[in-house]
Amino acid sequence: MPLVNMKELLLKANEENYAVGAFNVANMEMVRGAIKAAEDLNSPIIIQVAEGRLEYSPLDLIGPMMIEAAKASKVDVSVNFDHGLTLKNIKRALEIGFTSVMIDGSKLPLEENINLTKNVIEEAKKYNACVEAEVGRVGGSEDDSNVVSILYTDVNDAKKFIKETDVDILAVAIGNAHGVYSGEPKLNFEVLESINRTIEIPLVLHGGTGITKEDFRKCAKTGIKKINIATATFNSVDRYVKEFYKNNDDTNYFKLNLAQVRGTYENVYKHIKIFGSENKA
Ligand code: 13P
Repeated sequence: MPLVNMKELLLKANEENYAVGAFNVANMEMVRGAIKAAEDLNSPIIIQVAEGRLEYSPLDLIGPMMIEAAKASKVDVSVNFDHGLTLKNIKRALEIGFTSVMIDGSKLPLEENINLTKNVIEEAKKYNACVEAEVGRVGGSEDDSNVVSILYTDVNDAKKFIKETDVDILAVAIGNAHGVYSGEPKLNFEVLESINRTIEIPLVLHGGTGITKEDFRKCAKTGIKKINIATATFNSVDRYVKEFYKNNDDTNYFKLNLAQVRGTYENVYKHIKIFGSENKA
């Protein structure tokens, strides 16, 4: 089954009341592990790479690989450019064939975020790709750089933003943060419910690592249709690799690669089961 537009995938999730996992990948082993988990569960999936990680996974190398893997997959796969920061790299991702791009203007004043998003939407239209933006500010750091504090999405700001930009998908800040939470993550469902009552487009939850099953399920029933998971998968790969070294005296590079595929697979599989997208491909 093909590479699909992310909006299509999320509108179906909206109708049938589940969320689709958006899993960050950094190399070929992670791409393979993530898509294999989705195939085994007959689930749609989004794979993504963040602009802040291109230093480790150059866009011109990982991008075409993600696209080709999506095209060869048995399930619906969307390929998203996560946390786009520069028009240059967003344009490149669109040229490569990404089906969606995120423009992260969350650190800018609302009006500037609106104008920046409008420019990205204009570009994306040329490729029939959809656009995700963020209003409010998700906490933590998505690329080990500056840690930012959480600023809840204001429902009136979100309304104005959507009216002026006509953006396809909106990431919200409801107490979620990137990376490992320092304490118990505390999502504010009152904020989410009020956004969900007012906003009709699919919502995105960033900072999925560390959130409880119950909260994920509640989010998926309260307008969140895309859930981003990065750190938990990277950490799972790390654990599988360490385990591999612990249990293997002989050096075998290819088995090491398989440990990375397995580490990705297990984490993606676990999350798809929670998000309710199994058998929805
Ligand atoms: P985590 O690293 O907290 O899972 O966040 C992922 C994310 O939101 C990527 O955009």
